[in-house]
Amino acid sequence: MTRHFLRDDDLSPAELREVLALAAELKAAPFSRRPLEGPKGVGVLFDKNSTRTRFSFDVGIAQLGGHPVVVDSKSTQMGRDESLADTARVLSRFVDAIVWRTYSQAGLEELAQHSTVPVINALSDDFHPCQILADLQTIAERKGAEGTGSVAGLKLTYLGDAANNMANSYMLGCANAGIDVTVSGPEGFRPDPRFVQAARERATQTGAEVSVIDDPVLAVAGVDVVVTDTWVSMGQEDDGLDRTAPFRPYQVNAELLAHADPDAIVLHCLPAHRGDEITDDVIDGPQSAVFDEAENRLHAQKALLTWLLEQS
Ligand code: CP
Ligand code: NVA
Repeated sequence: MTRHFLRDDDLSPAELREVLALAAELKAAPFSRRPLEGPKGVGVLFDKNSTRTRFSFDVGIAQLGGHPVVVDSKSTQMGRDESLADTARVLSRFVDAIVWRTYSQAGLEELAQHSTVPVINALSDDFHPCQILADLQTIAERKGAEGTGSVAGLKLTYLGDAANNMANSYMLGCANAGIDVTVSGPEGFRPDPRFVQAARERATQTGAEVSVIDDPVLAVAGVDVVVTDTWVSMGQEDDGLDRTAPFRPYQVNAELLAHADPDAIVLHCLPAHRGDEITDDVIDGPQSAVFDEAENRLHAQKALLTWLLEQS
């Protein structure tokens, strides 16, 4: 059966460990796996802007021996309302995997339903699971258990827009990895209970805890990983909400970071809005791992593609 990666809990906890082990292997030996030798094609489609996702998939697919077809979906017949079902049927005849950055999670699910090749979510309004794979790889490198690199038992707190795709993916992805995860944001920007529930269900398999804590200082107390993201996600620019003042207490700055574990690392998926969700001294400081995190998009996605292709 074709496996897809549309949300963080599409991998079981054991499968997630396999993908992360492969990501570490590919980081050490970037050309050791060639599952796309041929070259086989991979479609990489964008409805939203991207720097990291675009470059990391393009380069990663080439390093796996394949041929990336990177397109702005609006320039295809998808932009003229060809159905997702027909698009999936046609692309499945040309490529061995489809990567799509879009708005609607339901659209991704529909595409996957009609695709005979793996479909990967490269960010939707609801989730950004490829980013979490890179983040977990980074956490394993910096904070993982000696020898195994296991991240289980660590504590991570996400601050800011706790209702966005990154917050949802941290809840699901950390629960899947056995990391205790807390999300913290102002009133009106707290997570959809459906996603908290889904994360808690997954956490029953790994022993992780999933918490929503309103107070940012309490939320970061003693944690190993502090994370934030933009206060204005793509597509929210004109939503009429005040996306500045309510978020100020959740800014990741030196004062707030001082409440975390002294050896805590700081992550941000980028692009950063310096002076808003994170300050220059923190993102450029000794606790920041954000550029390793960005690099790990390449390794983690190569591992994901390799693993998905091995399943069919
Ligand atoms: N973090 C991330 O997905 O970056 P891009 O939007 O540049 O792809
Ligand atoms: N939450 C952000 C993540 C960008 C990588 C957005 O969706 O714009």
